[in-house]
Amino acid sequence: MSRLSIMAYTFGTLFFLVSCSFSIVYGYKVVTHDLPDKQATAEKYNYHFVLVPEELDNEYWRLVEKGAQTAAKDYGVMLEYVGPKQANIDDHLKTIEMSAASKVDGIMTQGLSDEQFTPLINRVVAGGIPVITVDTDAANSNRMAYIGTDNYYSGFLAGKALIADKLGKANVAIITGSFYANHQQQRVKGFKDAVKKEKGIHIIDVEESEISRVKAAEKAYQILKDHPEVNAFYGTSALDGIGIAQVVEKYKKQDQVYIIGFDTLPETIDYIRRGTIKATVVQEPFEMGYSAVKMMIDLIKGESVPSVVHTDTRILRIVDLPVSQLDRKVENR
Ligand code: BGC
Repeated sequence: MSRLSIMAYTFGTLFFLVSCSFSIVYGYKVVTHDLPDKQATAEKYNYHFVLVPEELDNEYWRLVEKGAQTAAKDYGVMLEYVGPKQANIDDHLKTIEMSAASKVDGIMTQGLSDEQFTPLINRVVAGGIPVITVDTDAANSNRMAYIGTDNYYSGFLAGKALIADKLGKANVAIITGSFYANHQQQRVKGFKDAVKKEKGIHIIDVEESEISRVKAAEKAYQILKDHPEVNAFYGTSALDGIGIAQVVEKYKKQDQVYIIGFDTLPETIDYIRRGTIKATVVQEPFEMGYSAVKMMIDLIKGESVPSVVHTDTRILRIVDLPVSQLDRKVENR
């Protein structure tokens, strides 16, 4: 072999070996590039939970999520917040099904109805995934626990507040988030029971807003048109009072129309501060989310957890606002 061919042969072999090692190293990286993340995720989190609300971008649910995410951080939980963008029962049920299929460690959701949510919750629990109902209970299901407002009692409180504020005399229209959902039905029932012995209180109409502020406003407008005798509104979900207040302000009826709503979103507080909404039922969404995660961990560890935890519920009026909120500039309008 000539010197030239020996050199060419040596170079060729070296080149071959170098390119082989490159292919092996980079080929391995391509195939396994996901692996380190997954390992890190598994190491970082103790559990994987899902929180499924009825409406993802609803400000009230964002507070529940905030509580749940805070607890998730405190206890090393990977928390996914997934559900329908706008209230939609089929999407809600599908999201629960999909979460169960992906074998998460626990599901937190509402028990909106006995017809559709109870059988699904029972199937998920039978499949070995614990379910905690939050905000709305499916009391007849096999859910492990419920944390949230006592919805009947909260409606009852609203009724008593209206009696006190209107001195036992009012023609009331109710706008409820949904005729379908357990908690909304209970909030209406509690209210009706509270006022039923009051001879001066008449319930003139009950309408549904589909938990949309725009629909609540449309319904309020229609009610005022069809029933001019209505001088009080009761809105049973977070955006109902706000929708009603928009209409009442637009037609300058603040002095003639009493409004009692639900929740303490910034806009609700602004309307209370301005005197348009006279009272609201306070719920504790952050606390619901936080404690639901904590309870789920306790359940998985086999610790005993109460089957029903009622979070605090009370009435808030302008006199209950801290001075700092009375001075606040009008935002979110
Ligand atoms: C209820 C939630 C509901 C929300 C709608 C709240 O008062 O507790 O269940 O999704 O209102 O805005």
